[in-house]
Amino acid sequence: MAIEILRSVSELRARLRQEPRYACVPTMGNIHDGHLRLVTLGLQNAPTVVTTIFVNRLQFGQGEDFDKYPRTFEEDCEKLERAGCQLVFHPDEREMYPEPQVFMVDPPPVANKLEGRFRHGHFRGVATVVLKLMNMVQPHVAVFGKKDYQQLHIIRHMVRQLALPVEIVAAETYRADDGLALSSRNRYLSPEERGEAPRLHEALDQVRAAVASGDRNFEALEFAADALLARHGWHVDYVVVRSRRTLMQPEADEKELVALGAARLGVTRLIDNLELLAP
Ligand code: PAJ
Repeated sequence: MAIEILRSVSELRARLRQEPRYACVPTMGNIHDGHLRLVTLGLQNAPTVVTTIFVNRLQFGQGEDFDKYPRTFEEDCEKLERAGCQLVFHPDEREMYPEPQVFMVDPPPVANKLEGRFRHGHFRGVATVVLKLMNMVQPHVAVFGKKDYQQLHIIRHMVRQLALPVEIVAAETYRADDGLALSSRNRYLSPEERGEAPRLHEALDQVRAAVASGDRNFEALEFAADALLARHGWHVDYVVVRSRRTLMQPEADEKELVALGAARLGVTRLIDNLELLAP
């Protein structure tokens, strides 16, 4: 059966009334294998999956890539269909924001750290659109990737605090064989930069190995990872070790940690993270 495309909330709601249980996979399109893993995970949690495709202006800052963000709707639908996704919700700007969106979700201070320090207002835009999408789709389950670790953290927190009736399921980061996390932004990399790009994962993996062997001198590990990247021409925004639970500095004996990094290669900004387990 061909994948069904729904463009309005009323069409979507009418169609979903036939489905007893369904999962939602929110995306901005330019579907790659990382997104398809989320679809597969959705199908393991519900018989029907609705993928949403909407490039959300609210979460892009001035000078960011909103206008040139890759829009590849036809190919996206083909890939989603092959992965078993049955429904695509693809609202246009007027359907999503028929009037200027002035009610916004105001996330807690963690949204101003890490990515938030470099992308002012980003998580406000993300939280607002995710809340709105959850209200439009009303899924039983929603799937998000660990690739955007801080985003997942903030969404889980929002769902808890606002008592949204949805179960959040997290997907592991899907990587190319050389370690690079798949991302729609990888297509901005030149061939040479693409060769260099796996080093971000490599730098985080060095931190992971050191922490696993008992090293808790996080500042020195962060510095070494930063220096490795800088030596190879990266502009590092941050490489840090944080508590998985709070995304703040780890407590003295905390074991479940995460290394998060963001760095620019030429004009392309890449982010990645690895969960760490201290002994
Ligand atoms: P987008 O960047 O399209 O990502 C959609 C979902 O795919 C997110 O949950 C993201 O974490 C996940 N994802 C991306 N690359 C991945 C990879 N390599 N492995 C596993 N998961 C991956 O994130 C957004 O869109 C937007 O902020 C959105 C939540 C849709 C709100 O606009």
